[in-house]
Amino acid sequence: MMSLLLIGFSLLFIAVHTLRTSLASPLNKIPGPWYAKFTSLVLKWHEFRANRTRYIHRLHLEYGQAVRIAPDEVAFASATAVKEIYCSGGSGYDKTNFYDLFKVYGKRTMFTTLNKDDHAKRKRVIADRYANTNIVRPQSLNGIAERATNFVMRCYESVGGSLDLYVYLHAYAFDCVTHHLFHPYGTNSLLDAHDEAVMREVTFDDSLQNRLVAYYWPTIHKVFGQILSLFAKPRETPLADSFVLDTSAKTGAAPFTLLDRLHGSSSQLDQLDIAAECLDHMVAGIDTTGDALCFLMWELSQPASMHYQRKLQQELRANPTASFDKLPFLDAVVMEGLRCFPAIPMSLPRHVPSGGRTIDTFYLPEGTEVSCQAYSVHRVDRSVFPDPDAFKPDRWLEPKGDAERKRLFFAFATGGRGCVGKHLALAEMKMLLQSVYSRFTTLPDATMKPIDLEMSDQLISSRPQAQKCRLRFVPLEPANGK
Ligand code: HEM
Repeated sequence: MMSLLLIGFSLLFIAVHTLRTSLASPLNKIPGPWYAKFTSLVLKWHEFRANRTRYIHRLHLEYGQAVRIAPDEVAFASATAVKEIYCSGGSGYDKTNFYDLFKVYGKRTMFTTLNKDDHAKRKRVIADRYANTNIVRPQSLNGIAERATNFVMRCYESVGGSLDLYVYLHAYAFDCVTHHLFHPYGTNSLLDAHDEAVMREVTFDDSLQNRLVAYYWPTIHKVFGQILSLFAKPRETPLADSFVLDTSAKTGAAPFTLLDRLHGSSSQLDQLDIAAECLDHMVAGIDTTGDALCFLMWELSQPASMHYQRKLQQELRANPTASFDKLPFLDAVVMEGLRCFPAIPMSLPRHVPSGGRTIDTFYLPEGTEVSCQAYSVHRVDRSVFPDPDAFKPDRWLEPKGDAERKRLFFAFATGGRGCVGKHLALAEMKMLLQSVYSRFTTLPDATMKPIDLEMSDQLISSRPQAQKCRLRFVPLEPANGK
């Protein structure tokens, strides 16, 4: 009886304490659903259902560009918030321990460093390998061109049937990234192997639920990990793991590669650090580029977008020798693809620095978790992106509003911690589209349903719901009748 009373009083005390702190919080001025003042359970529920991005977007549509999504968490969607959170002081606010989930072999990589100084130290070693001047070097570009040609061969072979782009584009991205990281030890073999089971192994999409439990309830995860894995099996990538461990130990990589720099005298990294950094860049560069291309080519193949596909084909066939970065409509298609279907659509969480900060007129105490998500940043301001859910590449060709659109383009994030692989990703995407759409019309295969390509949130990136995307490739007549 006494113990029941004790439990009752304890629960009452906790409830009163929670209510008092909730009601006194300076975040109460920020709009949002009433329950977000008291609990993060609703947010977590949506995370577990792979639906966090759409849930937060719905809240932005209802409450505006600043929304409180949990007792100590606020989401923003304005250009001023993006600038403050991700660019102030160069690289913005420090990352939260959410990024611990992405440690590789137990090591912190550039992506997983939390504070500015650690990040700057690692970035000094790495950054020049991803500068555009390095990406456009012939040895680097030829590697991508070779892989795009290889992809086109698979398209020709599929004529009369269909090709699962989800699998083949991941294989293309795998081959491109390993070229940039390790040449001459990179692969050009996955597409050659033509083995879908092997190619599926290179997608890194881990079990979302399993990783979320590890993040929110580490003790439960440790104790019940074995049981949980029966329901939510952790994703294993033995192919990439062993490939990276073997390859990153090799010396003599080409001067444009990441491996060459990591082994260089300025890096002072041990072998496991080098392997971790390399694997991390593969994780960062394969699913993102593969999924972004997959969503984009699916969209271009829809009846509503067929006139854009035709316009792209015309530009490419009228300029057969033009470089991938000198084609305005191709650029507009890629920008619009990344706006509508950003491969990392969700929140990139950061901590408000000591002393607190004011963002979009709201004061936020130190330690508050703040974030922007590309999915909403690309949609909420209709004066910049009218008809925001529609795929309209032409919007990127209008001089009016150009600066505003670019300011709100967040697919690669922005500031010092934005995507270091952006130039490589754009080169891979544009060279592949150039190779494909100067030769083919693409159409959805009859076995595909619209729901298959719904966005499914993973831990940080999103992928097509069904993890497949079958398209048919119809060869075009040779250009100029030749
Ligand atoms: C369409 C393709 C891609 C998209 C949409 C994309 C997007 C992003 C975003 C949004 C971030 C910031 C993440 C955060 O703050 O949590 C990021 C960071 C990063 N990305 Fe990409 N990425 C792409 C391709 C690549 C490629 C090809 C590579 C390299 C092979 C790469 C390497 C990285 C690395 C290393 C970081 C961490 C940067 C840092 O912390 O300084 N990404 N990417």
